[in-house]
Formats: sequence, C-alpha cells, structure tokens
Amino acid sequence: MHGGIMIPSLFNPQTRKDLLAVFQTSSLGTTPANLFDTFRTPGIQYLSGSALKRFAWWIPQVVDATQNEEHLLTKTSLELRTVADQHHIIIAVDTRLNYLVVGCIALWHLGRDEQDRDWFELGTLWVHPDYRYHGSRHMPIADALYRRILSENQSKNILATTTNLAAIHLGMRHGMQMISYASLPKKTHKATCVCPFEKTGTHNNMKCPLKNQSCRVRVPFPTWQRVGKPERSIDSRITKPS
Ligand SMILES: CC(C)(COP(=O)(O)OP(=O)(O)OC[C@H]1O[C@@H](n2cnc3c(N)ncnc32)[C@H](O)[C@@H]1OP(=O)(O)O)[C@@H](O)C(=O)NCCC(=O)NCCS
Repeated sequence: MHGGIMIPSLFNPQTRKDLLAVFQTSSLGTTPANLFDTFRTPGIQYLSGSALKRFAWWIPQVVDATQNEEHLLTKTSLELRTVADQHHIIIAVDTRLNYLVVGCIALWHLGRDEQDRDWFELGTLWVHPDYRYHGSRHMPIADALYRRILSENQSKNILATTTNLAAIHLGMRHGMQMISYASLPKKTHKATCVCPFEKTGTHNNMKCPLKNQSCRVRVPFPTWQRVGKPERSIDSRITKPS
C-alpha cells in the first residue's frame, strides 16, 4: 500500500529530499529565510502588489532587460503592467541606488488544462549582471526571488522551462521537480512549447528535439503532487555533484 510519507521511509534519500522541498516552501522554512535576506542581500527590497504601484519606472527597465537576454522572452510594458496588477511579479530594487531595478521574476498565465485547472509559467527571471551571484556584489538575489514567488503561490499549478543550466540549478535548490514534457496535461504542454522555428528547427513543437534534452521542464513540489506525482527525471549532466 502506498500512503503518505511514512517514518521508516525517512531512510530513503528521495523521501528526505521531498521533505526538504516541503519544508523549503512552507512558511516555517521561508519566513526565516526571507528575514535572513536582509543580511544576504543588503539594501535590496523585493516589491510586489500594491507596493510596486508606487514605482512605475521599473517597467521600462524590465522591458529593456528582456530585450537583451538570449534566454528571455521579450515582454511589453502592457504585459508587465497586467501581470503586476494580478500581483504575479516580484521586482528586486537596490534602495541604496535610487531604487534601481536589479531583478525580477513573474508568473505568466498559460491557460486551463483538460481538467479546467489553471496553469502558470514561471518566467522573466532576471538579475542585473552586477548583482548576480557571480557578479561584483555576490548576492543570492535570484534565490530570494524564486523562494518568494513559489511560497506565495503554492496553490497555483506552476511550471518552468529553460535551456539555461544556471536556472535549472536554481530551481533544484528550491525543490523544483524535473519531469518529462509528456507528463504535463496536453493543453498545458502545447501552451508552453511556443519557441520559434529558429530555436527548435521544427514547425511542430510537440516534436521539438530539445525537449527533455537541453530544454527541461520543472514543477514545484505542490504542483507535482497535484498532477499525480509523475516520474521524476534525474540527469547526471544537470545534477550537480554534492
Ligand atoms: C539566471 C540568473 C537569474 C541566475 O542568477 P544568479 O543565481 O545570481 O547567478 P549567476 O548567473 O551569477 O551564476 C549562476 C551560478 O552561481 C551559482 N549560484 C547562484 N546562487 C547560488 C547560491 N545561493 N548558492 C550556491 N550557488 C549559487 C549557480 O548555481 C550557478 O552556477 P551553476 O551554473 O554551476 O549552477 C541570471 O544568470 C540571469 O539573469 N541570467 C539572464 C536571464 C536568464 O537567462 N534567465 C533565466 C531564463 S530561464
């Protein structure tokens, strides 16, 4: 019989990983981690919802960022304003530098699946080059953004796709579960696979050769549970040595 997570199975490394993923996104795990960001990312504030409305100038800065990164889809001012009104974007600003925008992360609505469940795509993940972990200030801003958006939206069905290895490792640090594209609901699968021919080399994106190879799809732990715990893929090329 397969029940929930049982005490004897704590010896199983996968169960321990799963428990860690649950803890990391729970308020018990995220509240102290968010407070600790005051020291890990000094001077940085994370703005969303009504707090963002006071800082309209973040929009052109994020538009500009999305136009200049190969891994990002370009976003318009209108798209960004809409997602901000829905409280689905978090912006990191440097309060010591006149509220310069130094990072962002957003949830984009993908539509409903066959079972009428809403899906969102985590995207527009960006950190200003000087503020990246390997930038001159050595700050984990991407981690702070990722943790906040996942913990604030646990009840939503979320996926994230990328060909960027740093983004894959970032997701792994936050308990994202790597699954195969085929285990997504078909409508959701179609909605997320909209890359152009120049990237995929095919007009039929359901047959894109990059899928599950250089391009990976991951879902947060609560989403993974809701979609019936599909098989998880472990790939030695992307699993970092511990
Ligand atoms: C993706 C992005 C947000 C990551 O920013 P970042 O975490 O600050 O990190 P950097 O890019 O400086 O470096 C990433 C490296 O630092 C490591 N790193 C970052 N934070 C870390 C932490 N808290 N602990 C340990 N390692 C950490 C990462 O694991 C990664 O190394 P890896 O490639 O071996 O995994 C940033 O590179 C970016 O904005 N890129 C352009 C836009 C983009 O590609 N977005 C992703 C689209 S899917």
